Amino acid sequence: MKADVLLGLQWGDEGKGKIVDVLTPNYEIIARFQGGPNAGHTLEFNGIKHVLHTIPSGVFRDTTMNVIGNGVVIDPIILKKEIEALLQYDVPVFKNILISRKAHLILPTHRILDAANEHQKGKMKIGSTLKGIGPTYMDKTGRNGLRIGDVLKPNFREIYDQLVSKHEHMLAQFDFDYDLAPMQQEWLESIEFLKKMTIIDSEHYLNNALNSGKSILAEGAQGSLLDIDFGTYPYVTSSNTLCSGACSGLGIAPNRIQEVFGIFKAYCTRVGSGPFPTELHDDTGEMMRKVGHEFGATTGRPRRCGWLDLPALKYAIMINGVTQLLMTKADVLSVFESIKVCTAYEINGEVIDYFPYDVNIEGIKPVYKEIPGWSEDLTAMNQWEQLPPELIDYIAFIEHETGVPVRVVSVGPDRSQTILRETVSA
Ligand code: GDP
Ligand code: IMO
Ligand code: MG
Repeated sequence: MKADVLLGLQWGDEGKGKIVDVLTPNYEIIARFQGGPNAGHTLEFNGIKHVLHTIPSGVFRDTTMNVIGNGVVIDPIILKKEIEALLQYDVPVFKNILISRKAHLILPTHRILDAANEHQKGKMKIGSTLKGIGPTYMDKTGRNGLRIGDVLKPNFREIYDQLVSKHEHMLAQFDFDYDLAPMQQEWLESIEFLKKMTIIDSEHYLNNALNSGKSILAEGAQGSLLDIDFGTYPYVTSSNTLCSGACSGLGIAPNRIQEVFGIFKAYCTRVGSGPFPTELHDDTGEMMRKVGHEFGATTGRPRRCGWLDLPALKYAIMINGVTQLLMTKADVLSVFESIKVCTAYEINGEVIDYFPYDVNIEGIKPVYKEIPGWSEDLTAMNQWEQLPPELIDYIAFIEHETGVPVRVVSVGPDRSQTILRETVSA
């Protein structure tokens, strides 16, 4: 058996949580492979909205195991809160969530360092979610980090104190006030809670599962344009958000990956700083934010909005090896008479159709193709045949440009508002 991967093709918040929840009945295991509580994955069903940060989005389906992989970074305080919220809905969290021994821990001092770094950067700040992601991955690659497996060691407190003291020395270089004591107390209490969870060697678990014919869906966080290597550096996150991140973040070999599901919004959003060529600073952008409820699931910050960017989408498809596309939020575009799609960029009079090294350069202008919109409300539709012809044309145009079929169109936040395409023309 091989594993499938589902990941975001833009700057995050493409609707990964919703779609993973929809696809979960097809899988026995859902495994998160990178990121941490910077993610906010929203699921809606039975009139209730749930936001998950660390826990895989298969957790609400009875028969599925949910693995938090080695590539994930975990803040025990946030994980404990997420688990407590799930217990209110009788989710059997001690049975259906497994945590990798090799996942790294976010310490309170990582969060403080994140805030101090951003403070120091001033206008150049990344717009981090301030969850300690960057400093934790720095300690991981710097070979200083603490891992989940360490919490079970008798000298855990000692190695924790050593790392904290290292961080305190670093923080002394910043002009930044902080109060570690209350954060630390809550963190240490949460570590005790974490010990009640099932901690495993997830790479063995996942490979054994594949060997015995079980199906796995790897769930990405963030999006391809936030990838540490290929995103809009330095305005990125600190992990590999790509398909390759699923291999390193779970211990699944590349030749065991089958389908790569790439999710994109019918338009684009971005939260935090950094380049965004198709960003709209006008009423149209405001309308997208309002109709699409474009506010961060983790931080509540308003998301920047703009038209779909095809050179960026094609780039993301290329570096991920996407085999199937899934489009979300098509319903939001119903309010526009016509729709624009960026097909190329103009830089100092020269037109290029690829995603350049420096997207942030002065004077980069999107070249748009304008296509007719549709006014029908899509939110109650549940079959491909019901979709308006203008939307079908929009999808056909995207398929033609990218060479990848669009298999799913999402028309609302609820689980039920999802149209799966039976046959594909592309
Ligand atoms: P994720 O981080 O990729 O899981 O996405 P988020 O949950 O951060 O953001 C996606 C937002 O859009 C959430 O509020 C979802 O409930 C909502 N959503 C997902 N799909 C659709 C859709 O097709 N239409 C609309 N209107 N909202 C959607
Ligand atoms: P999901 O999984 C959208 C953004 C932050 C910031 C940059 C770095 O919900 O799609 P970090 O906290 O990682 O150091 O922030 O990345 N960012 C996200 N934007 N969705 C996310 O996750 C994000 N996770 C991080 O806003 O610009
Ligand atoms: Mg999100």
